[in-house]
Amino acid sequence: MRKVRIAVLVSGGGTNLQTLIDAVDKGDINGEIAAVISDNENAYALERARKHGIKAIYINRKLLAERLMAELQKLDIELVVLAGFLSILDRELVKAYEGRIINIHPSLIPSFCGKGFYGERVHKAALEYGVKVSGATVHFVDEGTDSGPIIFQEAVPVYFEDTSETLAARVLQVEHRLLPAAVGLFCEGRLRIEGRKVKILKEEV
Ligand code: GRF
Repeated sequence: MRKVRIAVLVSGGGTNLQTLIDAVDKGDINGEIAAVISDNENAYALERARKHGIKAIYINRKLLAERLMAELQKLDIELVVLAGFLSILDRELVKAYEGRIINIHPSLIPSFCGKGFYGERVHKAALEYGVKVSGATVHFVDEGTDSGPIIFQEAVPVYFEDTSETLAARVLQVEHRLLPAAVGLFCEGRLRIEGRKVKILKEEV
C-alpha cells in the first residue's frame, strides 16, 4: 500500500514527534514524514527532524495563514499531525484538510481543553479541580479548538501529591502510545468518521 505523506506540526520539545519518527522507522506506520513544520524556530522538535534527515521548516507565526497551506500543498501532504503545536490553524486550512488533521491533547476531552488550555496549564487546571483521573485524547481537528471527533482516549490516575510535572509525565507516556496508534490506523485507511464518532474498521474499505 502506498505510503501516506505526513506533515507533523510542532512548537516544542517534540517527544510526540519522536514517537512518530520511531514508529515509521519500525514499520508500524504506513506513512512517511515528509516535513516537520514549526511556528517556533527554536523548537527542539526541528532539531529532531534534522537529525533524522526530515525536512524541517520554520514559519513565523504571523505568516502561518498565508504560508502553511501553500507549504502543505507543495509537499503533497495527505495527513497533518499536530504534536504539541500551539498556533490555531486557519479556518480555510482546516476546511481543506477536513478529516485529515489529527491532534493530541493532554486531557480527557471535553475536560480541560479549548482556548488557553495547552501544555502545563492543562495539568494545573486538572489538579486545581481535584479530578481523580486525567489522561490523553487523540482526535480529528474541526473548526473548533480541541472539539473534533475523538479517535482514542486513555485515562491515568491523579494522585493527591501530584504536581503538574508528575501528572504531565504520566499523561505523556499515554500520548506516546495513542498518537502513533491513531496515525497508524489512519494510514491503513481504518478510521471512519460518523458524525461526532470515529469508527475503527477491522480492515481498510
Ligand atoms: C504534550 O503534552 C502534548 O500533549 C501537548 O504538547 C506537549 C509537548 O509535547 N500538545 P511534545 O513533547 O512537544 O511532543
